[in-house]
Amino acid sequence: MEREVMFYSNLSTISYTIGIIIFGVTLSIRSNTKCQKHVIVFSTLQITFHFCTMDGIGLFSTFLEAHQPQLEASGVPRLFWEVLFKKLRYHTFDSGLVFQLMRIDYEDTERGPRDPVWKLFVSYEKGISAQDPNNIYLIDHAWIYDTNNARQNLLVTPGLLDRMCSLMGFDTEADENEKIEFVLNEMWRYNQTFSLNSGSIEDRMPIWYIMDEVGSAINHSNEPNFRTVPFLYLPERITYTLLFPIKNVDYEEEVTRDFIEGHTNDPKVRQALLLPWVEILFLGEDFVQVEPGEDYFVANHVQESLPEYIDEQLHPRDRNTKLKVFSEYSYINEYLTDPAFEIVNEESSADVLWYVSHFTDYKELSQRRPHVFVNQFPFECVLTIKDLLPIVGRRRAGDKLYDPDTLKTYPEWLPTTYNLNTELVKFVAYFEQRESMGLDNHWICKPCHLARGLDMHITKNLFHILRLPSTEPKIAQKYITDPVLYQRPENGKVKFDVRYVVLLRSVKHLKLFAYKNFFLRFANKEFALNNFDVYEQHFTVMNYLEDNPLCHVKCADFILEWEKQYPNFSWKDQIEPKILHMFKEVFEAAVAMEAPKGIDKNPQSRAMYAIDLMLEWRKDTVEPVLLEVNFSPDCKRACEYYPNFYNDIFRCLFLDDNNPEVFHDLCRAGN
Ligand SMILES: *[C@@H]1O[C@H](CO)[C@@H](O)[C@H](O)[C@H]1NC(C)=O
Ligand SMILES: *[C@@H]1O[C@H](CO)[C@@H](O)[C@H](O)[C@H]1NC(C)=O
Ligand SMILES: *[C@@H]1O[C@H](CO)[C@@H](O)[C@H](O)[C@H]1NC(C)=O
Repeated sequence: MEREVMFYSNLSTISYTIGIIIFGVTLSIRSNTKCQKHVIVFSTLQITFHFCTMDGIGLFSTFLEAHQPQLEASGVPRLFWEVLFKKLRYHTFDSGLVFQLMRIDYEDTERGPRDPVWKLFVSYEKGISAQDPNNIYLIDHAWIYDTNNARQNLLVTPGLLDRMCSLMGFDTEADENEKIEFVLNEMWRYNQTFSLNSGSIEDRMPIWYIMDEVGSAINHSNEPNFRTVPFLYLPERITYTLLFPIKNVDYEEEVTRDFIEGHTNDPKVRQALLLPWVEILFLGEDFVQVEPGEDYFVANHVQESLPEYIDEQLHPRDRNTKLKVFSEYSYINEYLTDPAFEIVNEESSADVLWYVSHFTDYKELSQRRPHVFVNQFPFECVLTIKDLLPIVGRRRAGDKLYDPDTLKTYPEWLPTTYNLNTELVKFVAYFEQRESMGLDNHWICKPCHLARGLDMHITKNLFHILRLPSTEPKIAQKYITDPVLYQRPENGKVKFDVRYVVLLRSVKHLKLFAYKNFFLRFANKEFALNNFDVYEQHFTVMNYLEDNPLCHVKCADFILEWEKQYPNFSWKDQIEPKILHMFKEVFEAAVAMEAPKGIDKNPQSRAMYAIDLMLEWRKDTVEPVLLEVNFSPDCKRACEYYPNFYNDIFRCLFLDDNNPEVFHDLCRAGN
C-alpha cells in the first residue's frame, strides 16, 4: 500500500510521523534538490514524503515560534537557525564530516586522573568558519538519567556500560562490577545538566546527560573556539547538544569549549569550579568565614514589613473571656480543648491567628489589629532558612576561629557550613586544608529551601560537590561521621536525631521555653560511613516515605534505654542541659541583631519551632549538634502521644502560664 503525505505547517503531524521514522530508518539529505523524495519502507506500510522548499519555509517559521526563546536564551547566533532546523528535522548528524576524534597516546607516562582520554580536532581541510551558517552540529546524548537510577541503568541497558567505559577510557574487558564502579566514579566529569526554566516544577527539575563520543571528547579551554548548548527539540521532546564555532578554526586545530561557561565571572570561583579538570591548589586561601551584610539576608527571602511601634503593655485582657483562636492547622482545632480558648472559623473575630504559611505583613497587622497575636516573628527566617542559620550561629563563636588541630569551627554545636554559591572558594580552601591534614572530609550538601531530606548528597568527593547544580542555592555542611548511636533490637546500632519543641514568647527580653517531652527519629539500618546512597542508613527523616517502618519510642522510654546503653552519660544531668544551653545560645544569637539580620521584636508575636539535633562523639564526650530549626512543624505525633500538647503550648504562649512540669524555662538563671 502506498500513501503520500504532504507536509504543511502542522507540527503535530510531523512530529508524530518523524517520531516513528527514527526507529526505522535514518534519512540522508541532499540539500540542493528542489523537492526531495524519500521512500521509506516501514514494515508493510510504504509512505512517500515530499519535502518541498515552499513548505519548508512555513515549517521553519513554526519551528521558530516554538524554539526561538530557547535559542535566544542560550545565545545560538541567528545565522545558524535555519540549518539547525533542517538538521533537526532530518536527523542529520554530520559532525563526522568535519571533526575527527583522536585517542590521546600518553606513551610511557601514565594518564593522570585529570587527563582526557579523547580529543576532538577539525578534520575539514578548509577549516571551520564561524560565519558559515552550515557550521552548527547536532550532538547526541549517549545517556540521559536521573541520579538515583544511574547504577541500575548501567546494569540493564544493553551496550551502555561498554560505551561509557570506552568513552571514559576504561578497559571494556574488565569485570562488570569494576566497570560500573569506574563509570559511577568517573561520570561526574562528564555529566552535564540542564533544566528548562519554564513550565511546572517537574519540568524544571534538572535533566542529567552525557554527550556522545564527539561531545564528550571536547576538552576545556578558557579561550574556547566552540560553544555547546543543550537544546530541547520540542516536537520529539528529545534533547541534543548544539555545537558551533565562536571563532574561525583551522584545519587540525583542537576543538575546545568552556566547561563552566556562564557560571561566574570571578576568576577564583572559576578556578574552583574547574578543579575537576584543572589542578590548582587552594591551600593558601583563607577559609575563615565572615558574616555577610544585610543584602545577603534580604536577597533570598520574601519581603516582610516590620510592625509599627506598639506599646509593650498592650492587651489588658479580661481573664474571664476566652481567647478566640483561628487556626489553619487542623490538629490545633482538634486538640486545643482548654476552656481558656475557643476555636473560631473567621480570622476577623480571632484574638490569635495561627497560620501554617509564612506571614509577612506585620506592619498592617499592627495598625489594623494591634491586639491580636500571630504565631510568627518578623525575620524568624534567620533561623529557619538553612544558609542563614549557620551565619547566625557563628555569632556565638566569640573570637575563637577554629581549632588548629581538628579545624573544628565554633561554636561547638554548629556544624561547619559553607554556602556553595557565595563561599565556594573558602569552602574549597577548607576542604583542601582538611585533606592535607588527613582529616575526615565527608560533607552533606543540601538545597537551602527544601525540607525533608530531598535532594541531599553525602560525599567526600570534592569534584562531585563542585558539579552539583548551581541553579539553586545549596550549602555544604560537614557530615557528622561519629554520631552517638542507639542500639535497636532488630536493626543494630542506628543513627537517631532528637526534636524539641521550643517556644519563643518575647525577643526583648528573651523569653524562651522548651517543651519537656522531646521526639525521636531513628534510622532503619545500622550506621557506617559507606553506602551513602542507602537512605535508611544515613537519614532518620522517614515519616515521609510510606514503605519505611517507623520506630516509635516515647522520650520517657528512650531515657530509660539511654541510661542502659550509655550509663556514663546521664541524660538528665549531662546531655539535656547541654542541649538546652545550645537552644538558648541559638536564640541569643538570633535576637542579637535587628531585622533583617535577626529576629525582630514584636509584642504581637508568639512562636513555636521544632529544633532538630544529633549527638556526636568528641573524644570522650557527647556534644549536641544543631541540625535545623523548623517553623510550623508537623505535630501529629506530639498530639497523639501527649493529648494536652496544644493546651500546654497555648497556655504558655498566650496566657504566660509556663507550667514548670511541662516546660524548661531556658532563660531562667542557671540555664
Ligand atoms: C554526576 O556523576 C557522579 C558520578 O557518580 C554522580 O555521583 C553525581 O551525582 C552526578 N551528578 C549528578 C548530580 O547527577
Ligand atoms: C585539557 O584542558 C586542560 C585545561 O585547559 C589542559 O590543562 C589540559 O592540558 C588539556 N588536556 C590535553 C590533553 O590537552
Ligand atoms: C564509665 O565510667 C567508669 C568509671 O568512671 C569507667 O570505668 C568506665 O570505663 C566507663 N564506661 C564507659 C562505657 O565509658
